[in-house]
Amino acid sequence: MTTEEVLIAPSILSADFACLGAGIETVEAAGADWIHVDVMDGHFVPNLTVGPPVVKALKRIAAVPLDVHLMIANPDETVRWYLDAGADLVTVHAEACRDLAGVLRTIREAGARAGVSIKPNTPVDAIAGVIGSVDVVLVMSVEPGFGGQAFMQESLAKIAAVRNLSRSAGVDVLIEVDGGIDQTTAPLVTAAGARMLVAGSAVFGRPDPGAALLAIRAAGLSGIGS
Ligand code: DX5
Ligand code: ZN
Repeated sequence: MTTEEVLIAPSILSADFACLGAGIETVEAAGADWIHVDVMDGHFVPNLTVGPPVVKALKRIAAVPLDVHLMIANPDETVRWYLDAGADLVTVHAEACRDLAGVLRTIREAGARAGVSIKPNTPVDAIAGVIGSVDVVLVMSVEPGFGGQAFMQESLAKIAAVRNLSRSAGVDVLIEVDGGIDQTTAPLVTAAGARMLVAGSAVFGRPDPGAALLAIRAAGLSGIGS
């Protein structure tokens, strides 16, 4: 039996944007595996956050790899900006791409890992054609756009469906889940098959973000095999 891991990717969306470096240091000291960076364009989602210059600056200071979640329309046009800025994993939304397979190919050809994400109302079928061309499938467990929303229980069946899809395709993708992850929901999503957990408000919104991260990881591990 192999030892299962639960990777934690704190989302800086809930960190203090005036002190991102300090926030990242705190979660890295607690063992964060990735830093999750939410890029929003005010079109694909009704919120606006950061772009390539901030990704580039974070790359300079982060000791762990950057997980860049692109919630932007038509990433076909701009995905290279994030690759050039140093993103280690770039995740695009299936709903947002004109040529999804082409965007994923661009990401991998640049040497980064490629992720595909689906919003809560998008069926898993939407990624069936690219399951063999991605390293990560990111299941959104809230409507993308804002931190601090409640976890959608329907996403559990979706995580299980992604796991089945990848098994039947004979590939080994990492299932990441994003939205409403905390100590209570972490074991539910790992039981369903997720192994990379994004948490924003449940980490940076707590008085002790490092302790919160450790508690989420422990809770996630407790869900494996349950
Ligand atoms: C939402 C973002 C998330 C967000 C999660 O659209 O993609 O990464 O930061 O925030 P929490 O963990 O607070 O739900
Ligand atoms: Zn995200």
